[in-house]
Amino acid sequence: MNVENKPKIVNVGILGFGTVGQGTWKHLEENSQFWEKILGVQVKPKRASVRSIQKERKIKIAENALTTDSESIVNDPDIDLICELIGGIEEAKELTLRAFENGKSVVTANKALICEHGEELFEAAEKAGVHYGFEASVAGGIPIIKVLRESMVANEFPLIYGILNGTSNYILTRMESEGVSFEDVLKDARELGYVEADEALDLDGVDAAHKAVILAYLAHGIWVNLDDITVEGIRRISIEDLQAARKLGCKIKLIGVIRRNFKNDHISVGVYPALVPIAEIIARTDGVYNGISLTGSVVGTVVLTGRGAGQDPTAGSVISDVVDVVKAQNGISAGIKLRHVSPEECKPAKPVEIGGSFYIRLTVDDKPGQLAKVADCLAEHQVSLATVSQSPQSGSPTASIILTTHETNEHSINLAIQSLEQLHGVNEKPVLFRVFDPNLTPKE
Ligand code: HSE
Repeated sequence: MNVENKPKIVNVGILGFGTVGQGTWKHLEENSQFWEKILGVQVKPKRASVRSIQKERKIKIAENALTTDSESIVNDPDIDLICELIGGIEEAKELTLRAFENGKSVVTANKALICEHGEELFEAAEKAGVHYGFEASVAGGIPIIKVLRESMVANEFPLIYGILNGTSNYILTRMESEGVSFEDVLKDARELGYVEADEALDLDGVDAAHKAVILAYLAHGIWVNLDDITVEGIRRISIEDLQAARKLGCKIKLIGVIRRNFKNDHISVGVYPALVPIAEIIARTDGVYNGISLTGSVVGTVVLTGRGAGQDPTAGSVISDVVDVVKAQNGISAGIKLRHVSPEECKPAKPVEIGGSFYIRLTVDDKPGQLAKVADCLAEHQVSLATVSQSPQSGSPTASIILTTHETNEHSINLAIQSLEQLHGVNEKPVLFRVFDPNLTPKE
């Protein structure tokens, strides 16, 4: 495909319509106008393959878009790009190679496949002149592949380590924080749909090892053999171990560790439970979250945390690869105006529309009625107090009053502060800080 033959529509075929396949379809469709805007071409999910057409699914699509024959999608001349989301190794590999032969680029979330056959598949894609994207194969929604390959390209990596399996992290977190037994949390994890069909992948460290092998390749250019590395799971960890680790200032986490000694050029890769000091962000990465700490020779340590599994995060990574393929095939550069919009579509919020709570420190005359005057002044501007504390300043006729407010807005607090500045008995310019709330819901 070249620039002259730029397609008006890029039709996407999805192999495997499970959690991630359905998520990819849903988000491709829901944001279709956005793809057209940033790419200048339409990106459309067209067909998907399933094991059973009749099965009840959350994402409903036309029955004639579904097939049980994955090969028919790979061979369909109307399909431009394939998302391989069936998992497993042999069938996925054959379909991927066939897609390459047919001149189609492939995007995958299949870590086992890349770990086992990455070298062969990368070569085949290169030979066929197509793209092979695998951002979703490691750490779900965390953009670790792009960070390693592009953003941190100036670095060598003496150490990469982190939590690469959300299910085992969920189990350990609940065992530690709630004292629930391994078996009981595992039951919950199964009910929540976290656990892979082959549970050993999550519980015995194999899934995390697949991901560690991929990261080791990206960071160091060498494919480490899974059979040659330490791979341990979480089955031997007891609540007693977790509590003992806490007393030692640590948490037990299942971590993948990739170390490179640049003095003797040795590399070691392993996945195992380890006591991680609580000061490390990775130790405080809990629940189904993944976290990866990259120590780069140029930048120092960068830590990425986020949802490592699940429909939407993983679909987000699949689509990021789809968009990259479409850009590459159509000669579209990344562009700093990627999300350029008209002022009608997106405009700066006015102060009255910017909500938040505030911290105020006042230096006031220490005399009767002063606090009441301050409270009245704030009330005049509809600013409501959440907490108040006052401390006398020894040897001084002034006191320090520290207030926090309930949620208000930038406009009201500015007016309130201006009034406080004029208030008799307030001696210095009030100190105002915002109380940051990551869960603040924007006003309509
Ligand atoms: N089973 C994996 C996990 C899913 O729990 O992290 C994402 O690869």
